[in-house]
Amino acid sequence: MPLVETIEHDVVIVGSGIAGLRAAIEIKRKYGDRVSVGLLSKIHLMRSHSVSAEGGTAAVLYPEEGDSFALHAWDTVKGSDFLADQDAVWLFVKLMPEEIRLLEHWGLPWSRRPDGRIAQRPFGGHSHPRATFAADKTGFFEMQTLYNKLLEYDNWERYDEWFVTNIAVEEGTFKGLYAINMRDGKLYYFKAKAGIIAAGGGGRLYNFTTYAHTVTGDGYAMALRAGVPLKDPEFIQFHPTGLVPSGILITEGARGEGGYLLNNKGERFMLRKDCAPTKGELAPRDIVSRCEMKEILEGRGFVDPVSGLGYVLLDLRHLGEEKINERLPAVREIAIRYAGIDPVEEPIPVRPVAHYTMGGIHTDKYYRVLDEQGRWIRGLFAAGEVAAASVHGANRLGSNSTAECLTSGRITGILAAEYAARLRDAPTVSPERHQKEEDWVWGWLKRESGVSAYEIRNRLRKTMGEDFYVFRTGDGMKRALSTILELRKLAREKMYVEDKSRIYNTDLQAAIETINLLDVALAAVSAGLNRTESRGAHYRLDYPKRDDENWLKHSLIIRSGEDEVRIAYWPVTINTWKPVERKY
Ligand code: FUM
Repeated sequence: MPLVETIEHDVVIVGSGIAGLRAAIEIKRKYGDRVSVGLLSKIHLMRSHSVSAEGGTAAVLYPEEGDSFALHAWDTVKGSDFLADQDAVWLFVKLMPEEIRLLEHWGLPWSRRPDGRIAQRPFGGHSHPRATFAADKTGFFEMQTLYNKLLEYDNWERYDEWFVTNIAVEEGTFKGLYAINMRDGKLYYFKAKAGIIAAGGGGRLYNFTTYAHTVTGDGYAMALRAGVPLKDPEFIQFHPTGLVPSGILITEGARGEGGYLLNNKGERFMLRKDCAPTKGELAPRDIVSRCEMKEILEGRGFVDPVSGLGYVLLDLRHLGEEKINERLPAVREIAIRYAGIDPVEEPIPVRPVAHYTMGGIHTDKYYRVLDEQGRWIRGLFAAGEVAAASVHGANRLGSNSTAECLTSGRITGILAAEYAARLRDAPTVSPERHQKEEDWVWGWLKRESGVSAYEIRNRLRKTMGEDFYVFRTGDGMKRALSTILELRKLAREKMYVEDKSRIYNTDLQAAIETINLLDVALAAVSAGLNRTESRGAHYRLDYPKRDDENWLKHSLIIRSGEDEVRIAYWPVTINTWKPVERKY
């Protein structure tokens, strides 16, 4: 009698956001019914966090108007503070225009210019307007279009509300994954020839975040637990315009359309020479966020009386009601609903908010997952935010994320299908692996009392917000690390799941998500403490300079014990541009 029931597909995809859907479509476009696909999501497919993407998707659409692949690649590399792998960046920019046109053919209602062509708006750090958008609901329309397209095909199955607990990797080979079907409360083994992890980011490491509550770093954590390295987890992006006090994203498109940032003296501080006198509000996010925090910390900001959060103002009033309604309808609605402020009449309170993880599962430029020695873990791929190819290096440019979800989805879809089609049978996992998973998953239900997962994750988020935010110090990161270690011990020894039932046990899910957050936090803070320089989003007050001599390299974090990680390094591919000083 098998311990867990087995479900078999040729390719399994973890995550049904833009990357996961795009991968599934590519498999079907190229291999049709010959390759079966299982698409797993811990929530309903259309609730994947990609639907929240607002401002745009970068692509070179009009070279005749001055944009080019070289410019897009250069902007991305400079924006990354030269930590991006330039071969991955070139591949990315070259694939993007076709992605926009495919979405157009599949029905996406892109916003238009007066001449009828697809509109593009400026975004931070881009030297040409290339954020392609559908008002300020780009992610929603992309998701809907991809899902509609996928419905044209057969031989794929969606597993909504199936919570993936771990992947099985043995002898350097991907052998499937484990998931709880929330509906029947049973643990299943998904046997597959290939797997694509497209599980999104880890934004819920923070309280003040643009992320949905579901974004708990599950993909990173399952990779770490399978012995797969994470690359550059110390680089976490803080988007400059999180609505105060909720943290909901106010799109960079608002600045792209001409919005200003103001301090309490009414100054456009971004234009000062210590910020970004040329690009102003449209400098890359790491720079804008630091300038905002400087205003707040030096007393030139405002304080929200309820949350106590400091903030600056985003002023859109000069854009006028008509433009705000046409280009930024979600911004207006969000500000009215969640801050009681109509941006047509009043500026919006904003501050830097956790928004993206530049680092992720270590892959090559084709998104094949690599071990520490650079060998492909056969059959395993990662796509979207969870992957680090690395296109974004130390800081991602706005609108390059949904773009990378599309390109990495496409690439992994083709490669996973090709690989699966060549194999006769899926590899077999050892029976001990099944037993280990059963014990781990259901073991969390055994304790009769203790500390709740919600308390542990709240403490973790507080620490991350205090000591691993826009400005970091060695002392602060040591403090964060010691709290993370304390919380890991607490979780292991005392975490208690109150609900003992099996059906829709969201309490158990929250406990495992908390473990995932703790795994990611340990990796991120260890890497941050180790990197004694400032680069992109990792800014250390005690090491305020970029140090190319010692640190122009990727960090690789490998789990090496219950509470231990090992740090190795991986070279940065520099095939076109040598690092120079970054000025905007
Ligand atoms: O501001 C935004 O609309 C976010 C876009 C992105 O992160 O790429």
